[in-house]
Amino acid sequence: MKAVVVTQPGGPETLQIADVPTPEPGPDEVLVRVHATALNRADTYQRRGHYPPPEGAPETLGLEMAGTVAETGHRVVDWSEGDRVFSLLPGGGYAEAVCVDADMLMALPPGLSMEEAAALPEVFLTAYQALHWLGGLQPDHRVLIHAGASGVGTAAVQLTRLADAHPYVTASAPKHDVCTALGAEAAIDYESESFADRIDAITDGAGVHIILDFIGAPYFHDNVASLAVDGRIVQLATMGGATVDGVSLRDLMAKRVQLLATTLRSRHPAYKIDLTHEFAADVLPRFVDGDLEPVIDSVMDWREVAAAHRRMENNDNAGKIVLRVLEEA
Ligand SMILES: NC(=O)c1ccc[n+]([C@@H]2O[C@H](COP(=O)([O-])OP(=O)(O)OC[C@H]3O[C@@H](n4cnc5c(N)ncnc54)[C@H](OP(=O)(O)O)[C@@H]3O)[C@@H](O)[C@H]2O)c1
Repeated sequence: MKAVVVTQPGGPETLQIADVPTPEPGPDEVLVRVHATALNRADTYQRRGHYPPPEGAPETLGLEMAGTVAETGHRVVDWSEGDRVFSLLPGGGYAEAVCVDADMLMALPPGLSMEEAAALPEVFLTAYQALHWLGGLQPDHRVLIHAGASGVGTAAVQLTRLADAHPYVTASAPKHDVCTALGAEAAIDYESESFADRIDAITDGAGVHIILDFIGAPYFHDNVASLAVDGRIVQLATMGGATVDGVSLRDLMAKRVQLLATTLRSRHPAYKIDLTHEFAADVLPRFVDGDLEPVIDSVMDWREVAAAHRRMENNDNAGKIVLRVLEEA
């Protein structure tokens, strides 16, 4: 089969499509013919050699896909050849085929295309886990979502609104309309205004209950300032830096701040299966109802994978960049 390979760690130009061995499904696995996959920021880190795949995961990039079942392992009973499926992956999505634990697969809901389904797993499962499992989201909670127009951010805005809570975002100004159309009640331009001042004004000084942060060090002190007593910061990335100077533990104690740092990719397979099953039961039907939508920035042929990575690294995308691997008949 063909797959995108990283010829050597480096820039987008190191991505090439090459022949690689087709994986063989284990007894509990399914071989899926990939129709579409999607980019995640982590792919760009892995391409540069900064984010190795977890033990046992394929070396090939790609944390999600949608496709059709091509072959099933001998213990698999829930899926058959031809089923339309999609899932989170520990790697391997940028390929014509990938082996997936049968318990990780979700059936494509009616009305969703392969390209739309490929845009869902990583960002919606991350946002769902961050808001509900870690953040303890409740109706009427106030939630600050940084990088609000990112893949994860656009999912988090929608899930917050769906929970009858109040999403506020930070994003560069040209992306504010995307965020407000999805339900953000305030969009803060982090380049020209202080998000801590805006949150203080919006919440009459009460602060927010949950912050989803992807920026890290430069936002830490303002995040603590923006938090309500007993609030939670869910730390999902450190795009702006990882080392925070001048932390006063007393400030954290005064607000009883809970700091929850996490990466989904490194979680145990059983955790990801539980998360997938809960998401499939409780959230997936809302895409059919139209209460939730995949937010797709662009769909590109997978032969344009280098251009797709450049678009993401230039921060040009709002929502997901999808790669079409196989045209649907
Ligand atoms: N921990 C986990 O389990 C987990 C899971 C999934 C993703 N993540 C992480 O979540 C982050 C978002 O992923 P994604 O794929 O959704 O990203 P994405 O679609 O590439 O969006 C990232 C956006 O963040 C903003 N940004 C980038 N650098 C920034 C900086 N230094 N300061 C402020 N804003 C900045 C940019 O938007 P603007 O134009 O608005 O600045 C950029 O477009 C990534 O770091 C990813 O690794 C973590």
